[in-house]
Amino acid sequence: MQSFIIKGPTKLEGEISASGSKNAALPIIAASILASGITTLKNIPDIVDIQNLLKILEGLGAKTNFENNVLTIDTKDIKSYIPDKKLVKNLRASVLLMGSILARFGKVEIPTPGGCFIGPRPIDVHLAGFEALGATITQEKDMYFLEASKLTGNKFTFGKISVTATENILQTAVLSEGESELRLTAIEPHVTDFCNFLVKMGAKIDGIGTHFLKVKGVKELHSVEHEIIPDQIEAGTFAIAGAVGKGELIVNNFIAEHHDMLLNKFSEMGVNFTLGKNNITLKQNRALKPINIQTEVYPGLPTDLQAPFSILLTQAEGTSNIFETIFEGRLNYLHELNKMGASAIVSNPHQARIIGPTPLHGTHISGLDLRAGATLIIASIIAEGTSEINGAEVIDRGYEDIVGKLTNIGANIERKEEEY
Ligand code: UD1
Repeated sequence: MQSFIIKGPTKLEGEISASGSKNAALPIIAASILASGITTLKNIPDIVDIQNLLKILEGLGAKTNFENNVLTIDTKDIKSYIPDKKLVKNLRASVLLMGSILARFGKVEIPTPGGCFIGPRPIDVHLAGFEALGATITQEKDMYFLEASKLTGNKFTFGKISVTATENILQTAVLSEGESELRLTAIEPHVTDFCNFLVKMGAKIDGIGTHFLKVKGVKELHSVEHEIIPDQIEAGTFAIAGAVGKGELIVNNFIAEHHDMLLNKFSEMGVNFTLGKNNITLKQNRALKPINIQTEVYPGLPTDLQAPFSILLTQAEGTSNIFETIFEGRLNYLHELNKMGASAIVSNPHQARIIGPTPLHGTHISGLDLRAGATLIIASIIAEGTSEINGAEVIDRGYEDIVGKLTNIGANIERKEEEY
């Protein structure tokens, strides 16, 4: 086990760049299985979630090569439809293999996926979609067995707008016979990038970027080259760091059109920023106003930016409210922020109040989940004194070279082996 030791406060200044999108890269890698050949992917973030997904693909028979953020995957020799159980349990995104393996082999045996503890994360919508396309599903303990002698296009309305369910059902629909009409699909930028990748492979999808997709099934897809878009959440997290960081910070690979609501909320609070071509510059020199935030599906404020945004709210002059509408159990990090001096009151699993401004101080805290971990790192950088954040491995799942990137802009952060 490792932890991060951070000494604060330090100014954050200079330039920092978001890597490729984790949540686009993961489904795109899973979808490489849909074709037999060599897929080349550029701008793949070097993070633990990607390494774990590649291990699963290799276990199925794929050959992979990953250097300098360029990944090649040769899927010609994939023969197995049973991904390694232990590895699948380590990675929530392994649920995406359900769709791709089912579509290529007509069957898949896979356990319930693991991932961050941010509340219950059922996969009922995924399963309903597979059934609508003709799969039969049996469950024994924590194992799912999906089988389809033939996949047939259908009309399917998602019971919830879900990012990975949309990606999973799309993977299956593009290789089903006939037409599918998918309603209430997710439209996050990473979902759009994923759709664009499928279209490059030869899929026929109409309505990309909307909640209604029409898919004409094709007999086969071919392997292609694709460059992953920048990570919306990492870019947004760095922008928030710039807004609390006291120095002048430029965040590169910040695509303004992916951040409508974040920028609206920055303006409402009085965050001082200027937008450039694919970057944002922040230099905070005035008091922040308290506001209310509510997480929504895209283009609303992403649930993955809810925790980082709360750091800004601790520095605002008055009471702000958080309404987390997507997940339950995604406010637990506030108890850790309170240990650092914040004044947050969690009213129920979806709502909290933050009273600011409160100076933050370093202490011993736990990263809990991926986004909570990134939040506590930034809080610790602006806090007075030394912080120790447990669970560095959780943060490494989703942020490439977080220590190197933050050190480069002035943070005093290092990694330490935890002693037991
Ligand atoms: C993806 C992202 C995650 C992000 C989330 C919301 C990846 C790998 N992860 O997760 O970082 O926080 O989108 O933007 O892309 N739901 C059901 N039944 C289902 C599926 C989902 O009830 O079968 C519910 C969930 O519990 C949640 C909501 O739908 O309340 C949205 O979740 P979903 O979009 O599916 O999240 P993920 O795809 O797991």
